[in-house]
Amino acid sequence: MGRWYTQCAGNLPCGLLEAVPFVFVAFIIANIFGAIWLLLRENARNVENIGNNKGNKQIPMNDNNINEIFLSTREALKTILPQASNKDIEKYEEQLSKVNNFDPVLIIIANQNWINQNTYVNYQAVMYSFATNNLQNNRRRDEDSLSIFHFPNLTELYTVRGNIRMQYPNAFFDRNAQSQQEPIGTAWILTNVAVHKSDYAEDDSFFVI
Ligand SMILES: *[C@@H]1O[C@H](CO)[C@@H](O)[C@H](O)[C@H]1NC(C)=O
Repeated sequence: MGRWYTQCAGNLPCGLLEAVPFVFVAFIIANIFGAIWLLLRENARNVENIGNNKGNKQIPMNDNNINEIFLSTREALKTILPQASNKDIEKYEEQLSKVNNFDPVLIIIANQNWINQNTYVNYQAVMYSFATNNLQNNRRRDEDSLSIFHFPNLTELYTVRGNIRMQYPNAFFDRNAQSQQEPIGTAWILTNVAVHKSDYAEDDSFFVI
């Protein structure tokens, strides 16, 4: 009397109910051992990679390769934004560190000629559109930078570009126009490929109609 399995009643087989707590405990123990095993394996792999590098043997694609192939995100930003202060570069680097690997980031560099012709207020209005177009509830994709815009994918990036081309055609260079209009800026597409590592390129037809 009083033992928990004596409560067992009805149609349920008592053996099954007795088994449930055991299965539960076994499950937890298995998880703990599983986690320890994963940790040990990860350590072993790191040690192996260090060994491989020393021996100059072929190694599989990993962060070590990425370090050799790609510039640091900071260097990428300095190339794209040569005028930016170190403080701004740090701020942008921090912004990019929150972006998932391979999410496209659009970076727009202002064309001073466009600003001279159209005013800085109008420049900001177009950048505000890049920050908010296609987003709901006052959300922004630029962390208020008006310069670095984070998209979930390339389709969305070029959809937004298409919308802004309709909204502000005078932000784009039209080679067939009678009186040719300056493009509003230059556009770079950057993706994080690893922590602090980025790939990037200028899209030189981004602001061309
Ligand atoms: C791209 O992102 C948009 C917005 O989040 C989403 O609706 C769309 O399905 C995505 N497209 C692709 C190809 O992943």
